[in-house]
Amino acid sequence: MPSIDVELGENSYPIIVDYHILNRVGELLKAKAKSSKVIVIADTFVSKHYGEIVSDSLSDAGFDSRIVDVPPGDEQKSMEWFARLHDGLVDHRMDRVSTLITFGGGVVGDLGGFVAATYMRGIDYAQIPTTLLAQVDASVGGKTAINHAKGKNLIGAFYQPKFVLIDVALLQTLPRRDIRAGLIEVIKHGVIMDAPLFDQIEANLDAILNLERAILIDVISRSCEDKAKIVANDERESGVRETLNYGHTFGHALEALTGYNTYRHGEAVAIGMNCAAQLAINLGMMDSVDGTRQRKLLKRAELPVHFPPQISPEKLIEKMYLDKKTKRERLRLILPVRIGEVVLREDVQQSRVAEAISQCMQRG
Ligand SMILES: NC(=O)c1ccc[n+]([C@@H]2O[C@H](COP(=O)([O-])OP(=O)(O)OC[C@H]3O[C@@H](n4cnc5c(N)ncnc54)[C@H](O)[C@@H]3O)[C@@H](O)[C@H]2O)c1
Repeated sequence: MPSIDVELGENSYPIIVDYHILNRVGELLKAKAKSSKVIVIADTFVSKHYGEIVSDSLSDAGFDSRIVDVPPGDEQKSMEWFARLHDGLVDHRMDRVSTLITFGGGVVGDLGGFVAATYMRGIDYAQIPTTLLAQVDASVGGKTAINHAKGKNLIGAFYQPKFVLIDVALLQTLPRRDIRAGLIEVIKHGVIMDAPLFDQIEANLDAILNLERAILIDVISRSCEDKAKIVANDERESGVRETLNYGHTFGHALEALTGYNTYRHGEAVAIGMNCAAQLAINLGMMDSVDGTRQRKLLKRAELPVHFPPQISPEKLIEKMYLDKKTKRERLRLILPVRIGEVVLREDVQQSRVAEAISQCMQRG
């Protein structure tokens, strides 16, 4: 099966990307597992539609497996679910050589990954991401977390899986809105480091949104490869990994201001990327032609590019300062130089940021 290697020394692992490979999870795990005990932490919807394929594959390969369902929703990334899943692991008599599998979107990936990182001080786990966002972003790089009342993802660990299995066919049941919101992370990889990927998305957007098999495998693999390269250079986000934050400082602030229930994460990031590009153009860092190319692609993908009119630039900037990635009271902005290259800027005046936000505001 085609795979991409995330090179992290003794924590290295493969990401396998193909079509209709869910039924091969047992066979794959057999080559890696230290014992026959397995628990699958699954999103309820995903479990209902695809759970049997996973259970059959695991039992055919000789595993003693159990599926534990977690209802959809970010609120499940909680202490309560964290404790409840540990109960499930104890109940299934999981020990230090047992394996955990996460099966769903970024929510069960982050939650289940953190359970794997902590149960008996860390057990092996594998990820089967089932949303586009989780396939190209959340499952690559080993960030696991749950939320705290004071903020998202405040409690967690860097903990790498033993492998990631991406079955692109599972996207057929994903709502269109989630496909578009996940695609933003692929477009982002194009803008921050991979101009040919950006060109490829521009040329094949309709086929991608129609989930055509060959192009989908291609862009998902390429996107994972890009993120894997960054992660390999900076596993714990102390340098280059920060470029992945392109559009996110604005996006996170918008999500926080709108109570996390108006925009999908990817939609807020799309607006953030458009604003970051506008700021870069204003600062003379990027040609407006590249900014227009990005904006046109986002719009063709039916992603929003403007802040809603009720948002005040000052309030948004205030929230941007609260982002946990803001260090030493300075805004750290990832800004584009061209399609395929971004830089970190910590010296941009607040008035210039406010100006760019105003320019990207939806007009009446
Ligand atoms: N660890 C990381 O590096 C990282 C990166 C980005 C985002 N995240 C986290 O990921 C989470 C968001 O992930 P998400 O967007 O995947 O959301 P999600 O896990 O909530 O899934 C979104 C919805 O899609 C449904 N779903 C999942 N797979 C499906 C399928 N194949 N067909 C039909 N429906 C399906 C789920 O039931 C859910 O309702 C956030 O908590 C975010 O913090 C983590």
